[in-house]
Amino acid sequence: MEKIALITGTSSGIGLLTAIDMAKAGFRVIATMRDLSRNTRLLQAAADAGVSDRIELRRLDITEFDSLPGVVAEIVHDHGRIDVLVNNAGYALGGFAEDIQLDELRGQFDTNFFGHVALTRAVLPTMRGQGVSGLGGHIIMISSISGLVSNPVTSSYSASKHALEGWTESLRVEVRALRIKVVLVEPGAYDTDIWERNVRIGKIALSEESANKDRARRFANVVKTKLKKGDTREVSRLITRIAQNPNPNLRYLIGKDAQVRYWSQRLLPWKVYEKILVKALQID
Ligand SMILES: NC(=O)c1ccc[n+]([C@@H]2O[C@H](COP(=O)([O-])OP(=O)(O)OC[C@H]3O[C@@H](n4cnc5c(N)ncnc54)[C@H](OP(=O)(O)O)[C@@H]3O)[C@@H](O)[C@H]2O)c1
Repeated sequence: MEKIALITGTSSGIGLLTAIDMAKAGFRVIATMRDLSRNTRLLQAAADAGVSDRIELRRLDITEFDSLPGVVAEIVHDHGRIDVLVNNAGYALGGFAEDIQLDELRGQFDTNFFGHVALTRAVLPTMRGQGVSGLGGHIIMISSISGLVSNPVTSSYSASKHALEGWTESLRVEVRALRIKVVLVEPGAYDTDIWERNVRIGKIALSEESANKDRARRFANVVKTKLKKGDTREVSRLITRIAQNPNPNLRYLIGKDAQVRYWSQRLLPWKVYEKILVKALQID
């Protein structure tokens, strides 16, 4: 039986590659994006991989909360079920915490937290029904190492991913009896549009108005010139493997940098750790 996978944010990066990998693995992929005019890269990649007939495009903006049950109902009407939900869409907001406005922080949470929550809640009744017949489903949250370890100058992003981690951990246990497997994927830095086209900087974060502007500019330069980013296919392949695993773990931390950050924060004394961080990120 052909499995149905719903993926958010497939116009670029992890979402795009996951749509291709899952289609190659035999899933029928409902690849969603908030602006269908940005479909060129996905369509080209699908044609190159020979999987165009397994990928179906639909418009979905995860912050249009009221529209989500309708989109899910249409998919279920057309395909009968949803076996895998990959909550991938997201962006990173940069800027010192002091400079981030509340509306900017709320916007970050609307996408990276409430959007995932709202879509998951819209899909759960379908997966609950499938659980009764023994099928259940997979809900895969694309979190981040920043959901476990907070970084300076991206407090909003880290907070949104920490919220996602907490909510997901509870959900995993709540739906276990329904045969729904809930998983967190926690990548380090990977080469996608999140670092350029989709990066958002707080309105005053780099401006003359900010008392932190010099440190913020130094930080931005370190990220631009020194940060090594991995091959995104590692992440999409991992997500595809998880979707095929009948008994996946709760967490999958991926990327050497993610491992280093995770273990150095846990093993080093905090004061040593923060000293290293301030120096490496040039925010002293
Ligand atoms: N790359 C990394 O280093 C990294 C590391 C850890 C975690 N992650 C996580 O991985 C996920 C995917 O990011 P990426 O790295 O692949 O970046 P990306 O290439 O910028 O892709 C992000 C995708 O999310 C979409 N999106 C943003 N807001 C949306 C909304 N409201 N509704 C629907 N789609 C929306 C974007 O659509 P548009 O084309 O319309 O902008 C784009 O398709 C994110 O959750 C991110 O936090 C990435």
